[in-house]
Amino acid sequence: ALVTTKQLMLDAQKGGYAIGAFNVENMEMVQAAVDAAKELRSPVILQTTPSTVKYADLSYFYANVKAAAEHTSVPVVMHLDHGSSFELAMRALRTGYTSIMIDGSHDSFEQNIAVTKAVVDACRPSHIPVEAELGKVGGKEDDLDGGEGGGYTVPSEAVEFAAATGIDSLAVAIGTAHGVYKGMPKLDVERLSEIRQAVSIPLVLHGTSGVPDEAVKECIRRGICKVNYATDLRIAFSNGVKEVLSANPDTIDPKKYNACGREKVKEYVMSKIEVCGSVGKA
Ligand code: 13P
Ligand code: ZN
Ligand code: NA
Repeated sequence: ALVTTKQLMLDAQKGGYAIGAFNVENMEMVQAAVDAAKELRSPVILQTTPSTVKYADLSYFYANVKAAAEHTSVPVVMHLDHGSSFELAMRALRTGYTSIMIDGSHDSFEQNIAVTKAVVDACRPSHIPVEAELGKVGGKEDDLDGGEGGGYTVPSEAVEFAAATGIDSLAVAIGTAHGVYKGMPKLDVERLSEIRQAVSIPLVLHGTSGVPDEAVKECIRRGICKVNYATDLRIAFSNGVKEVLSANPDTIDPKKYNACGREKVKEYVMSKIEVCGSVGKA
């Protein structure tokens, strides 16, 4: 069933687990993530970035996710990831997305508040929850470049930001980065606990591909309720496709290699749903 993130994340916060949020880029990745959630009786969030919805319109992804969600009773969310403008957020809202992130973290604190509050106010009548980001998650998320080591979330600012905007959840910058890590990521988990003590809304971890599972679990114990995975799904899908094409270079049926990509993504998503602790929560 297609639902919003609102109750899912509040339940996760109360229960001390998180919901996995997986970036999808084609029909097979949608099917893989929903199949994984079904098999483990877990809620699941599927999300698309601005560059993904530039490749194919929001409506294509919405249609895929809606079709997958209709075939199961587990809660499925269609979320806009890193919404880059008020306009894109509104298009996602009109398309039927059930959760929206507005990412004003590249603007000044005041501008971030202004754009975030505008999206919250616009989404409120349709009860669509809004995620925003404060501080900068490093690395490159598709064509959004967070740069290197860009500013951790300051707990007192998080309090002010949450109060001024009325957001439903907050993405925090505590040392994770989008993409593949060069070394081992160093996470400021003390800061995470301070943010959690300071604000009551559910917190979101970005840049999780490449973060060791034990570190992710530690973050969940300290208040993370949504965990974003993107890069590793791309890698899993591409590895599956390559496996078939290198073994059988004459393959011309996209179903043959896409099915293998789909299987690899499903295995990956299942393992991360376990890490999130949401097995059996649907
Ligand atoms: P990774 O690509 O590092 O998994 O980051 C995912 C993310 O934060 C999506 O918003
Ligand atoms: Zn992100
Ligand atoms: Na990462």
